[in-house]
Amino acid sequence: MNEQRETPARFGQSPAAARPPGYPTELERILSLRDGRPVFVRPVIPADELAFEREWREADPETLYQRFFTPQPKLDARRLHSFTHVDYQWRLALVAFAEGGRAVGIARYEGVPDQESAEIAFVVNPTWRRAGLASGLLGLLVEAARARGLRHLVALFLQDNPAMATLLARAGFGPPQVNAGVAAAEITL
Ligand SMILES: CC(C)(COP(=O)(O)OP(=O)(O)OC[C@H]1O[C@@H](n2cnc3c(N)ncnc32)[C@H](O)[C@@H]1OP(=O)(O)O)[C@@H](O)C(=O)NCCC(=O)NCCS
Repeated sequence: MNEQRETPARFGQSPAAARPPGYPTELERILSLRDGRPVFVRPVIPADELAFEREWREADPETLYQRFFTPQPKLDARRLHSFTHVDYQWRLALVAFAEGGRAVGIARYEGVPDQESAEIAFVVNPTWRRAGLASGLLGLLVEAARARGLRHLVALFLQDNPAMATLLARAGFGPPQVNAGVAAAEITL
């Protein structure tokens, strides 16, 4: 996968959208996926609420189930706020935008101040899968977590999710431990 830095206007990014204090500009980049399609990746900002609402509305039930382990999860105001307001230290999300501005992939880690462990989660739009997007986001997320002093990342996923199992194994996560249908895999940074 190629990485480059470039002005992101063609990815629907408005220069006017406010960046919160502590926003890590250095995590912005353009990734060129295996099938040649480019995405612009940047840390989440509060103005992403609209994009997240849209993607959630249009997401298929299976994707939401694989991500949240429950049928018909709800995107209430509190959850939406939490998704889009992070501190860029203990909680961080990276969003991949396609040309035109659709948010086609999100990777996040959720930790707690002064704790060395965080949980990671992913979702990639079905029409953008199998092109290395989640793998690319995972690489950036691991790098960012390490740079911020985190020591352990854990991923929880449904046992019947070969995509996550392969993605994590390739990135160096340990073998998953399964409990009640939910697998947990961990990496020490
Ligand atoms: C899991 C998920 C994020 C992977 O996204 P992705 O961008 O397609 O992942 P990648 O393209 O980087 O694929 C990495 C590897 O995983 C494996 N993989 C991906 N999808 C697969 C599938 N459907 N079946 C088997 N293996 C699969 C492949 O080995 C793939 O590499 P390859 O294409 O070189 O063979 C995506 O399928 C998704 O959003 N699923 C729904 C949400 C979810 O399951 N989240 C996990 C819980 S947080």
